[in-house]
Amino acid sequence: MHRRINTVLRMKESDIEITVKGWIRTRRDTGSFSFLELNDGSCLANLQVIADETLENYRDEVSRLSAGCSVVIRGVLQKSPAKGQDVELLARDVEVLGWADPESYPLQKKRHSLEFLRSISHLRPRTNALGAVTRVRSRLTVAVNSFFQEQGFIQVHTPIITTSDCEGAGEMFQVSATGEKGEKPFFGAPAGLTVSGQLQAEVYAQALGQVYTFGPTFRAENSNTSRHLAEFWMIEPEMSFCDLSCNIRLATDLLQYVIRDVLDNCAEDLALFNSFIEKGLIKKLQDIVAKDFVHITYTAAVEELGRVADTFEYPVRWGVDLQSEHERYLTEKVYKCPVIVTDYPASIKPFYMRLSDDGRTVAAMDILVPGIGEIVGGSQREERLDVLVKRMREAGIDTKEYDWYLDLRRYGTVPHAGFGLGFERLVQFATGMSNIREVIPFPRTPGFAPC
Ligand code: 4AD
Ligand code: MG
Repeated sequence: MHRRINTVLRMKESDIEITVKGWIRTRRDTGSFSFLELNDGSCLANLQVIADETLENYRDEVSRLSAGCSVVIRGVLQKSPAKGQDVELLARDVEVLGWADPESYPLQKKRHSLEFLRSISHLRPRTNALGAVTRVRSRLTVAVNSFFQEQGFIQVHTPIITTSDCEGAGEMFQVSATGEKGEKPFFGAPAGLTVSGQLQAEVYAQALGQVYTFGPTFRAENSNTSRHLAEFWMIEPEMSFCDLSCNIRLATDLLQYVIRDVLDNCAEDLALFNSFIEKGLIKKLQDIVAKDFVHITYTAAVEELGRVADTFEYPVRWGVDLQSEHERYLTEKVYKCPVIVTDYPASIKPFYMRLSDDGRTVAAMDILVPGIGEIVGGSQREERLDVLVKRMREAGIDTKEYDWYLDLRRYGTVPHAGFGLGFERLVQFATGMSNIREVIPFPRTPGFAPC
């Protein structure tokens, strides 16, 4: 059995024989032997291998190894005299599985720009930065699931193909089975890729109490920004017997829990980002865990922004949605910490948000974080049948198509709330990556879906 390098580097015993498998990062020759840096993706660090000329394939193969070659190495683990590493492997046998022509292999030793790496999305996970992002993303997935399991939530797999447009923003990708024009739609009605699992999560919350869904969502919005993808993952809890303040509590606890988890479990990868991607990242993450978030209403936010209105490209006034520049000003310049904004005008929010007693705001909440802006969007839901029907009609929605959703209010309705946490925005926040295209393995954006 071979061993993963992350466990090898932590081994205390020496002079034992082990086998490792991976890809060569560099080869350096000195006199009668070569130093090979081997990486297998299990951690950021490479294992240093010493391969000397007594190996039978030294001249023909080992001395020709270059970046990207795949190898199996059997050897003896030894304490390393060199600085910066505790152990090294003295090779007894080096088997080359696959060569990588140094003339054409795109990942050479120099640092490549993230933009260039995006153009080779099939090779970029072999770099330090993208490998580290992938490990942090995986750890965040584990942390999200642990959080909800510990809190007694039940995971529900909501559909990817749906006939309901949750956000009502008309940004759905249409789904069609290839067939003749004029044929009946495959699903009997026009269907699309889901923009959110919320409405279906509400169904299950009204049977199982506390549920969450964590899956891919799709938006055909033509925004080529550093925070938007056409395919992204969302974490959406939905809770019965819960109001806006309980919703805010859950979102805050979730964010603090998952960030604490990566601080505890991804120290080596975070140190890389802290040095090369966002200076001060670790301090920022530690502060998120340690400090309370600020909570203001939309109305107070608009007043605050109104004082510096001329610094913005887009106008700020009550009744207009906050733009990214406004969100970032609040969280980066004014409060310098995460900001929870609540009680938005009903006119700029979807039909399902609960109408407040003032008749003009809804029990909505967004959470804004430095460097990103909106990371969470959620609300208490409208549980009153008559108010919901009125809101749907005002939004021009055909209530017949959402009869199943209205049934939830006809039969045993309860106050309930939930939110959506954009998973890639969370990974961006945790890694300091300024472009969202770096934090999903295969980004999909307008005009871009190479493999
Ligand atoms: O604010 P949004 O649109 O909310 C909903 O979809 C609700 N139905 C969620 C709920 O209450 N269950 O999206 C939620 C979050 C945003 O705050 C943002 O983090 C992320 O999803 N998001 C995107 N992330 C990447 N690319 C996009 N195009 C995104 N659109 C939204
Ligand atoms: Mg939103």
